[in-house]
Amino acid sequence: MGQAWTKTDWRNKPRVQMPDYTDAEKLSAVEAQLAKYPPLVFAGEARKLKESLGAVSRGEAFLLQGGDCAESFAEFSADNIRDTFKVMLQMAMVLTYGAKVPVVKVGRMAGQFAKPRSAPTETVDGVELPSYRGDIVNELDFTPEARIPDPAKMLQAYTQAAATLNLLRAFSKGGYADVHQVHAWTLGFTEGDAAAEYRDMANRIQDTLDFMASAGLTSNNNAELASVDFYTSHEALLLEYEEALTRVDSTSGKWLAGSGHMIWIGDRTRQPDGAHVEFAKGVLNPIGLKCGPTMTSGHLKSLMSSLNPDNEAGRLTLIARFGAGNVGEHLPRLIKAVQEEGTNVVWTCDPMHGNTIKSSSGYKTRPFDSVLREVREFFGVHKAEGTVPGGVHFEMTGQDVTECTGGVRAVTDEDLSDRYHTACDPRLNASQSLELAFLVAEELSARAEANRAAV
Ligand code: PEP
Ligand code: CO
Repeated sequence: MGQAWTKTDWRNKPRVQMPDYTDAEKLSAVEAQLAKYPPLVFAGEARKLKESLGAVSRGEAFLLQGGDCAESFAEFSADNIRDTFKVMLQMAMVLTYGAKVPVVKVGRMAGQFAKPRSAPTETVDGVELPSYRGDIVNELDFTPEARIPDPAKMLQAYTQAAATLNLLRAFSKGGYADVHQVHAWTLGFTEGDAAAEYRDMANRIQDTLDFMASAGLTSNNNAELASVDFYTSHEALLLEYEEALTRVDSTSGKWLAGSGHMIWIGDRTRQPDGAHVEFAKGVLNPIGLKCGPTMTSGHLKSLMSSLNPDNEAGRLTLIARFGAGNVGEHLPRLIKAVQEEGTNVVWTCDPMHGNTIKSSSGYKTRPFDSVLREVREFFGVHKAEGTVPGGVHFEMTGQDVTECTGGVRAVTDEDLSDRYHTACDPRLNASQSLELAFLVAEELSARAEANRAAV
């Protein structure tokens, strides 16, 4: 037996994509302070999510994970949180209707602050400054002062995450998410084909609920109708923050990353011997692992054995992000690696990060068609391989932004400047998100049909 894992072990491993804080004393003071604050989530919740993800891995549930690329301090408001939550509820309803299985809802929320970057510096008009790494690290403004990493930002991020999670819990359990609100969630929704299609589905759900009520089944006597489980997730990138919020679960004696229910390892920080993998290894939470085109079968095998040595169902979610047109080249070989090891995994599709382009108007964008195409390729490969397409992972917002092009209410390259608010990657807006949910639901209902025919 080797030495037992500790939450500081990552400090002895090579780290990438983390800031070099210049004020060591201030950093230690912030870490000490955070270590005294309560964790944001409870181990029992992380275990429950893991169980639900176990069901996803067997095709008995479907995973919907979504939210901002980077949460921002400036955009923090109750309305923003509510609107993203609301669109996720609508999408989940659409997917449940199509797939005829429960949808596990996980927000990229309440902790999704730190960002990996493709380059350590950014040059504008001949001036070179350190890259922006998310509001938990430094500021977006292009000035030397704004780009200095400031440890105190971790405290502000914690406070924002705590307040966000508090509101999400209130919405989930306090009546807002009651399925009888299926129509009310459309209020304020921008019109479009997806909205009309949603209303149509909501009418059919309403009929079913009326029927159930006449048979005596209402929200008053059925908690499943009255509330939802909504989980939080983020990339565990800033390990000082993660370590400070990691606590022992008194029930099991195991370590819990208290910063969110699920954490994931990004495509740039998944080195098998690196700091980020070392940290994720030792916590009991469900772990996500981004798999981009450079993931080799050998790396995946070694990562599966270090991240899920006991082969627990629901522990490991592989988030495929290859880009439209590339799924057929990469996914089958990674599915084969999983099968050779006999590992339990959830396969989910992130059709965002492999499809980022620079538009003719200069904005970073993602064409809706590429996003959809990658999702379809993902479903196609799983169908051919006889494996389970477990879920989808989107960068999205409930706001009516213009960041991704296309969709029914076609956003053009020229429109991007209208309402381009993201601090980092372009997000699907509410209408595009809902439209995509309907298209994914079509894929899922085809699969549900095929499964029914097979039994
Ligand atoms: C992200 O999810 O925001 C991200 C940076 O993804 P990836 O690590 O897959 O590039
Ligand atoms: Co992103």
